[in-house]
Amino acid sequence: MPKKKVGLVGCGTIGSQLAITLDSDKIANASLVAIFDIAVSNLQNLKSKLHGSAGAYSDFDAFLASGADIVVEAASQDAVRAFGRAILEAGKDMMVMSVGALADKKLLTELLQVAAKKSCRIYVPSGAIAGIDAIRSVRHLLDSVTLTTTKSPKALAGAPFFETSKIKLDSITKSTAIYEGTAAEAVRKFPANVNVAAVLSLAGIGADKTRVKIVADPQSTMNQHEIVAAGSFGEIIVRVNNVPSPGNPKTSFLAVLSAIECLRSICDDDMRIGS
Ligand SMILES: NC(=O)c1ccc[n+]([C@@H]2O[C@H](COP(=O)([O-])OP(=O)(O)OC[C@H]3O[C@@H](n4cnc5c(N)ncnc54)[C@H](O)[C@@H]3O)[C@@H](O)[C@H]2O)c1
Repeated sequence: MPKKKVGLVGCGTIGSQLAITLDSDKIANASLVAIFDIAVSNLQNLKSKLHGSAGAYSDFDAFLASGADIVVEAASQDAVRAFGRAILEAGKDMMVMSVGALADKKLLTELLQVAAKKSCRIYVPSGAIAGIDAIRSVRHLLDSVTLTTTKSPKALAGAPFFETSKIKLDSITKSTAIYEGTAAEAVRKFPANVNVAAVLSLAGIGADKTRVKIVADPQSTMNQHEIVAAGSFGEIIVRVNNVPSPGNPKTSFLAVLSAIECLRSICDDDMRIGS
């Protein structure tokens, strides 16, 4: 089987680990052919760590022309909005990490239509949570799905939510619920924190019905996500306590591993495990 050629959008925490994994031939049937980032320093920093011949591009059109079969987006919701359509129009599969962008029904419908027209696939890794396989299995039987995310204030800092909220992260001294709303709203107000809410919504009952609570806990050293889903099938409760990535406290280490495992299963697996 010829190796799948992989292009990478975003040379940050997730993208760098994925690229280094590919570069060290740990995914047998994949090779990294191109990396792209709008921050030239991040692009060059990652390029300097790679031994292979992957091209480094700060121009998206040149990146797209570099011959990748599948493009991994590990950049930002803006990147999905800016480049998602063009990636699929070019006939490439796409793996999306900034899943919050797909909570926008208009964008999701548009991308799915282009993917169908071009016979391409959109892959969404389970990211920083577990249990997505089970949620998918019972999605027609679900009455309610709630995600409670607990992070340290430093992992929540910079979210657009704080531009209009009276809550000051610096003044929080004990575990405090700071937000409750729909997943559709949560991914706009906390775009770098609750991509898991979008993954959960896509697997389950949608971003308007999935509820999200966000708790800031100064004592927390982990990024915790807890899913409670109920319906005529019974109840699913899943809690993960994730070590934050050293380079980016907003991103759980599990999200990095999930991205690598999703790509590995696309390229290497002859057997699919889990629903
Ligand atoms: N699905 C999940 O469970 C999950 C978990 C954690 C993070 N994420 C998301 O994955 C994405 C990557 O996370 P990360 O921790 O690697 O982030 P990061 O901030 O460490 O790195 C992002 C990189 O992408 C680049 N970038 C941003 N916007 C870009 C654009 N429009 N075009 C090209 N490059 C762009 C930045 O310059 C940076 O180098 C983020 O959107 C993050 O919110 C998803």
